Amino acid sequence: MESIVVKGGRKLSGEVTVGGAKNSALPLIAATLLAESGVSRLENIPDLRDINTIIRLLAGMGAAITRAPGRLEISSAEVTDCQAPYELVKTMRASILVLGPLLARFGKARVSLPGGCAIGARPINLHIKGLEQMGAKIEVEHGYIIGRAGRLKGADISFDLTTVTGTENLMMAAVLAEGTTHLRNAAREPEIIDLAVFLRKMGAQIEGEGSHTIIITGVDKLNGCDYQVMPDRIEAGTFMVAAGISDGDIVIKNAPLAALGGVVSKLQDIGLEIEPLAEFSEDKPLNGIPVRIRRQTSDLQALDVKTMPYPGFPTDMQAQIMTLLTLIKGTSVISETIFENRFMHVFELQRMGADIEVDGRTAIVRGVEKLSGAPVMASDLRASAGLILAGLAAEGETVMSRVYHLDRGYSGFENKLKKLGADIKRITE
Ligand code: EPZ
Repeated sequence: MESIVVKGGRKLSGEVTVGGAKNSALPLIAATLLAESGVSRLENIPDLRDINTIIRLLAGMGAAITRAPGRLEISSAEVTDCQAPYELVKTMRASILVLGPLLARFGKARVSLPGGCAIGARPINLHIKGLEQMGAKIEVEHGYIIGRAGRLKGADISFDLTTVTGTENLMMAAVLAEGTTHLRNAAREPEIIDLAVFLRKMGAQIEGEGSHTIIITGVDKLNGCDYQVMPDRIEAGTFMVAAGISDGDIVIKNAPLAALGGVVSKLQDIGLEIEPLAEFSEDKPLNGIPVRIRRQTSDLQALDVKTMPYPGFPTDMQAQIMTLLTLIKGTSVISETIFENRFMHVFELQRMGADIEVDGRTAIVRGVEKLSGAPVMASDLRASAGLILAGLAAEGETVMSRVYHLDRGYSGFENKLKKLGADIKRITE
């Protein structure tokens, strides 16, 4: 088993580059199933466990995939086996993203029900409801979703609540459907925009991405195309907190600042200076630009945080900002409105000396003078990043086990921190 060992107290400095966005690359790779011909060449693909999983999924279906560092070439012309087996889906619930494309292009799918995960039940009822509105027949048996459809039909779909992969699944179902689909109360995350731009390049007719209503007019076929995945806004936000918590001064060379509004304003309110070192291009706002982060004052401010769908403060940054707030004098109240069980990092932070009280979906954080290094255990992807950030600031040594959680969403995280001056290493026990 691998662990990450970090000795706190170093001020980070230097430059870091974030990888391609995991939560954009996953739907983009699923979308290549829609191409009847041609090759999709994807650039800036991050080297992550979850990416390996979805590649295995598509290869198992018969897609032809060649891989080089940061690059993927995928042809789905020969796909025949429309299945996503439990063995793979259980390791990555985002595998559900193949359901829409399989039904759209092949009219059939057998996808293992993604179980819940550490942070919540993660139901997919809204995915299913939307697909049934488009004419799919969906049954669930022996833990598998069995879907059947002739050509899907455009529908007017209103999501009861905002769902990121639900919006993505139905976008991918609608692009080959007969007629027009309206997705109302659609998710507005930047990764949704990345997917819409990719689908349009494949030949889809989509408008309204990034707004509450996405309108898709089905076409008869789609072709592979070339595309560059946007930089990972959550990895960028994580390094912003790393600079703040270590009282460092770093430059992120490719931060998608236009996609980080909710995070930047919160960190500025806390007292970090986040300085763009270049203009971002209006026509490609999701591209990264160099950004410098350091504390504006030594007297950082406690404040309240409420996670919300985009463009609000992202739930995927909740563990990271909580870690920073544990060391800021005063009381901060964190409300986690998206997932029902996303405070598991609290118990580990408490073992490092943090003063946090959890009441349902609310955590009350009272700043302490210092955290002390301790053996801790990662429980989920973003919690693991938060615990490492705590280790950067804690007195003494922190040893974090279950590093596989971290590797799902961060590529070479400890090496990037080491290059910024952290005393950190990965060990195998
Ligand atoms: C996506 O998950 C992300 N994953 C998550 O990132 C992210 O935390 C989440 O969106 C919220 O931003 C990917 O994009 C691969 P949701 P998703 O559907 O789509 C409820 C990470 O760390 N819901 O937007 O699964 C659901 O229970 C991961 O990178 C239903 O009730 O999240 C939750 O309470 C973690 N029924 C809320 O909606 C449904 O059919 C939002 O979930 C679907 C969702």
